[in-house]
Amino acid sequence: MKKQFFIANWKSNKTGKEAKEWLHEFTVHSSQFTDSKENTIILCPQFPLLSLCHEFITRHELSLAIGAQDISPFIEGAYTGAVAGKLIREFASYVIIGHSEARKYFHQTQEELSQKVAMALSVGLTPIYCVSEKTEKIPTGVTVVAYEPLAAIGSGRPDNPEDVEAVAGFIKEKNDVLYVLYGGSVTPESVTQYTSLASIQGVLVGGASLSANKFASIIQHA
Ligand code: PGA
Repeated sequence: MKKQFFIANWKSNKTGKEAKEWLHEFTVHSSQFTDSKENTIILCPQFPLLSLCHEFITRHELSLAIGAQDISPFIEGAYTGAVAGKLIREFASYVIIGHSEARKYFHQTQEELSQKVAMALSVGLTPIYCVSEKTEKIPTGVTVVAYEPLAAIGSGRPDNPEDVEAVAGFIKEKNDVLYVLYGGSVTPESVTQYTSLASIQGVLVGGASLSANKFASIIQHA
């Protein structure tokens, strides 16, 4: 059985109350996942929810890791508005870097993304580095890459599995990357088309992860 990552990217969604409801619902399903050491399940909420999620997961002993959705490229200090890696590390083990929405809406540059990766690694966070093109530069030290073609994100039109396999193979061949995940309109119905691919080791889920039942169903169907 190969190692698989299942990542719930909540993006800019959920209040504290909604996060708690999701966690309670997910707890009902989680007993089915705890035995599988091969699966890493990661929840990526907005920054202010990191503490709440961490506290809930610890208290209920859920096998659910936490990831942030971004990280400051700077160490702590006079950088108003930025969230320092050192603080993120108190709650999370992973961080999404280079998501196409962050590149598009917050104009994150390649240089900045490389700095974010370096910062994440320096505080002990594992970067989940997103690319939407197979030839995109992947910073040194990245071991987990999520391939998310732009047309597939949030569109209900997931990419063709043969193309995904070819791109994942290419990324692994050209970079020192251990795991390539697929992201883009993954659902319980489509997940197995991707997790069964030889070069793919999991999925990054946006829309369908907002429902705990759907996200659990994705893990079960993989
Ligand atoms: P989606 O988002 O599953 O809603 O397409 C995936 C992502 O952007 O991480």
